[in-house]
Amino acid sequence: MNGRRLFKRLRGLFVSYAHIMTSSDSEDSKYKQNSGEDEFKVTPWEVEGEIDYDKLIKRFGTQRITKELLNEVRSIAGKIHPLLRLGYFFSHRDFDWILDRYRSNESFYLYTGRGPSGMVHMGHLMPWIFTKYLQDKFNSNLLFQFTDDEKFLHSQILSRQEIRLYTYENILDVIAIGFKPQKTRFIVDTQHIKYLYPIATEIAKRITFSTASAVFGFSNSTNIGMIGFPPIQASPCFLPSIIEGKQTPVLIPAAIDQDPYWRMTRDVAERMGYPKPAQIHSKFIPGLGISGKMSSSKPETALFTTDEPEVVEKKVATAFTGGQATVQLQRLLGGNPIACPVFWYLRYFFDSERDSYDRLLKCKSGNLLCGECKADLAKESKIFLKEFKERREHAKNVVADFMYDGKEYEK
Ligand code: TYM
Repeated sequence: MNGRRLFKRLRGLFVSYAHIMTSSDSEDSKYKQNSGEDEFKVTPWEVEGEIDYDKLIKRFGTQRITKELLNEVRSIAGKIHPLLRLGYFFSHRDFDWILDRYRSNESFYLYTGRGPSGMVHMGHLMPWIFTKYLQDKFNSNLLFQFTDDEKFLHSQILSRQEIRLYTYENILDVIAIGFKPQKTRFIVDTQHIKYLYPIATEIAKRITFSTASAVFGFSNSTNIGMIGFPPIQASPCFLPSIIEGKQTPVLIPAAIDQDPYWRMTRDVAERMGYPKPAQIHSKFIPGLGISGKMSSSKPETALFTTDEPEVVEKKVATAFTGGQATVQLQRLLGGNPIACPVFWYLRYFFDSERDSYDRLLKCKSGNLLCGECKADLAKESKIFLKEFKERREHAKNVVADFMYDGKEYEK
């Protein structure tokens, strides 16, 4: 891959946006998952290529997060979370409606989740850290789903037992984020299916194979478990209305790869007498390698919450950067922070906005070397992960407090 193409690919992960697009849930184009004309693909199971987030907004029919919307959040919540201010959360559907309802004293539920196909990496933590901010600011109830069924059906290699263990380990990570136990309920699909199944069958009955194929890209060779799965992930969108006994708004914070589920769910919501679930979408944090999002399937380029300090050191030391080939060239020409995953990691996780800006200027002017940024990232990550691991340990004592039925997780 030449340098220009690589730069475009990485920049594509983070470009910011200047103009506003409007959503149109009824457009046929929303079902055109991946037209083939574009160089990238975003589905719940695959994220590939140079992601153009502007095009994604158009393709998925979502709305850009505008300055006006940020001001609305500020006026209600007081403080805007950096992930929102920095444009990491960049798109939404009906977030403005949720805020309007909240202003009229109507509370909303949060809903998010995890597919336990492996250990949790720092990319996964980002939507959850943001969800905690929303829970704290809006005092919302949260439903958190673990789609162990999805991951079993999707994987060719993972056994049920492996997925059970990952589910338990992932539960510890989610508890370690710090959600309020009295306002948070975990749904593990295979353990709590009876709460979802009646809703899921109602949803499934209203969706044809043709629509599901268009939305998710299913083909004749997709196993029928996967084809039948989407209503299970859609069900928690309507569960709050059932729990509360009245129409209850739901907001879903997640990266934009999960969006196909919500397009499908929004289509059936009103026909079933429920409000359409609202979403707030993030970009992807890149892996520490040459391209692509951070993913458990490329463990050498992902920082896992359970990585030992030496492993973190090693992964960061071998990370790809936007630097020049030699120190002399770096001093002479400066680096390219926009194309550097180390820069973005520091920006989203650890640097203050001012420090991040200083880092950007120093890197571009050749006054900062990649080794220095890597040392900062390794140091900060080790501190963060040490504390996170302690919270994971403590989480082992309180799992039942978070489970939907208040019972222990069946390991
Ligand atoms: P999963 O396990 O693939 O991902 C969990 C959450 O992490 C987000 N994510 C990322 N965010 C930033 N950078 C990355 N590199 C990155 N990789 C993953 C995902 O968007 C997701 O928010 N089917 C779902 C589980 C699920 C769910 C939900 C997710 C069930 N219900 C409701 C969100 C909302 C899954 O497999 O997620």
